Amino acid sequence: MTTLISPPVDGPAPVTGAVETEAGPQRAEAILSGLGDRLVVLVGMMASGKTSVGRLLGQKLGLPFVDADHEIEVAANMSVPEIFAHRGEANFRSGERRVIARLLQAGPAVLATGGGAFMAEETRRAIAERGVSVWLKADAATLHRRARRRSNRPLLQTDDPEGTIRKLIDLRYPVYAEANIVIESEDGPHEATVEAVLTALHAYFAKAPAGS
Ligand code: S3P
Repeated sequence: MTTLISPPVDGPAPVTGAVETEAGPQRAEAILSGLGDRLVVLVGMMASGKTSVGRLLGQKLGLPFVDADHEIEVAANMSVPEIFAHRGEANFRSGERRVIARLLQAGPAVLATGGGAFMAEETRRAIAERGVSVWLKADAATLHRRARRRSNRPLLQTDDPEGTIRKLIDLRYPVYAEANIVIESEDGPHEATVEAVLTALHAYFAKAPAGS
């Protein structure tokens, strides 16, 4: 697992760091103090582990966990596949932008976003203002292996889901790369990814002035 931390704008150079394993109250305190009232926002492809990692991360930091797709479903009173089927993707995307803008007002928290959310410039800007973004990066084969277990993703209902994932990766990875922190997580338990995120957040706030 590798961790890449991008600097805040005008900040110090990016660092690549080995993952350390010790958790600890001091590390959590330093992260919480750096975060202030902002949110840790997980971005990345479908099946990259945003929801599972986000939930665990929230527990470790003592922060509420919020899942954007779930909140969109509550707001629409429909599941994500139903919204796609009955209202279309464009409608889903505008609901997604609105819901995420609202969720970003309520920090501190950990927020998992749907795979397409960070592609909207407006949403990226709002996340940059109100959060620290963490991209959970994985390759197509890993994502496909994980995504196969569930059939609730409308964009993957194609004849060649792995090919679809590859196309989305080509489009999205250059944009996801704008995230403040990149965690490469090919496989293994979610606990290891959470550990890497905590280490990266700690290093990020150590380099960035509080509240930046
Ligand atoms: C999507 C990802 C899904 C969900 C919707 C569209 C995407 O969320 O928002 O099916 O465009 O990648 P997950 O990333 O949580 O699967």
